[in-house]
Amino acid sequence: MSFWDRMIGFFWGEESLPLLFMVLAMAMLLLHYRREERAHFVNTVSFFFICLFGQFVSGLLHALDFGRAAAVTREVFIIGAGVAVIRLWGQLVFRMVLPAVKLTPPRIAEDIFVIIAYVAWFMVRLRYAGLDLGSILATSAVITAVVALAMQDTLGNILGGLALQLDNSVEVGDWIKVDDISGKVVDIRWRSTLVETRNWETVVFPNSQLMKNKFLVLGRRTDQPVQWRRWVWFNVGIDTAPTRVVSLVEESILQTDIANVAKYPAPNCVLMDMDTKGYARYALRYWLTDLALDDPTDAAIRWHVMAALQRHGIKLALEESSIHITKENERYEEVVRQREVSLRIKTLRKVELFSQLNDAELRALAERLRYSPFSKGNVITRQGDADSHWLYVIINGEAEVYVDLPNGKRRTVRILGRGNFFGEMGLLTGAPRSAWVVARTDVECYRIDKDAVEELLHERPGIAEEISHILVTRRAELDTALQNLDATGAHKDLSLQRSEILAMIKRFFSLGN
Ligand code: CMP
Repeated sequence: MSFWDRMIGFFWGEESLPLLFMVLAMAMLLLHYRREERAHFVNTVSFFFICLFGQFVSGLLHALDFGRAAAVTREVFIIGAGVAVIRLWGQLVFRMVLPAVKLTPPRIAEDIFVIIAYVAWFMVRLRYAGLDLGSILATSAVITAVVALAMQDTLGNILGGLALQLDNSVEVGDWIKVDDISGKVVDIRWRSTLVETRNWETVVFPNSQLMKNKFLVLGRRTDQPVQWRRWVWFNVGIDTAPTRVVSLVEESILQTDIANVAKYPAPNCVLMDMDTKGYARYALRYWLTDLALDDPTDAAIRWHVMAALQRHGIKLALEESSIHITKENERYEEVVRQREVSLRIKTLRKVELFSQLNDAELRALAERLRYSPFSKGNVITRQGDADSHWLYVIINGEAEVYVDLPNGKRRTVRILGRGNFFGEMGLLTGAPRSAWVVARTDVECYRIDKDAVEELLHERPGIAEEISHILVTRRAELDTALQNLDATGAHKDLSLQRSEILAMIKRFFSLGN
């Protein structure tokens, strides 16, 4: 027998070629379907080839007549190759096959499977090598007992990790709260669970701690989507009826789409306490859908509540001490009020609609305005609403005017900005609101009620003419948006329409000709 025949005959058997193909096929499948874990598979396959090379070396040794060294080397590398094959099988079954049939076993299950298979493989090889299994088991039992005693804590953690994974009490992706730390579970390892907090910290909880103590899994409820109830607190003086506060805050929040606030269960407002300090304590409760964004969403809700209260002339309650200071100083209050009126006059001057008014008229109007802030997404007027009591002037921000089309879609008619007014169609003609107006950004408005507008029109009939002019153009745009040209007579002469609308306004406000 030649040198090469002896060498190859020693390490290359009948099963070698199929085994090689099997390993290559498994590696290709894994690399194709689990591209993101490439590094693991490449490592395992590389290890297999190193072991194959080791066996080749053992063949060389054998051919060179180093009998014992060749046998030992071969055995070592056969065990190594087996370890690589077992690992690949574990990866194939647990990361590809089971997920393909919608099973997602915890990572620990793969580890256990692989470890048991390693032990079995060692036993088999040791037996081949002629070692007595019985005595090995006895010795290993004693060693195990000694090691177990020495590693009580670690074993507690490992068993904790196992239990956590198997009973599904926490899963990767859950938000948990332990004492005052809350965060998202990013990994459950053998010994510890990693939690990433919103402050960009990673907290390592020993698994035994999670097993022994209670912790909260945030936002999780059987058969419900993940969402977490949050409480946003605010105080209002007891001179305002709680039913009014609750209903206007709820109405405003329910009409608005706020990012990360669940529609169901709907947000609700409750009166939580009344105390002797002179104010009532309310909470707006809502369900947060993205648990990472608790503070920003709370802030958005707070701003909505504030804006809704301000629009209705309700102030948030101040601390008792500051109320005294303000009350004592009525002159100071008057100065503040005058400053506000001057600011309003300055703003009104820039609104084209009021360009005809003199200083006294502007002042009279400014005193009757109500400051009305809206937060982004708030509905300011709704199409078809019969309660058209207000005319709005935008002093900051942008609002979108849109209409519902008969086919259920909506179409934007115009974007209004600073100095523009809206709500005139309903207010001046008594018709239901012709369109939706929604805050595109946070919007600050002044709103003017019907009585103030009526007074204004009596004093300055020219304003009615100007408004009727704008109104006709806007109506034509609306009709075009609705593609409803015939129905409303947009084909009619615009000046005819204008005079019709003017007559309507005059009739509505009983203005003379
Ligand atoms: P009103 O019908 O009371 O309520 C909806 C408001 O949208 C309406 O008054 C107008 O102020 C405004 N609006 C309707 N159509 C237009 C338009 N084409 N351009 C600007 N604003 C409009």
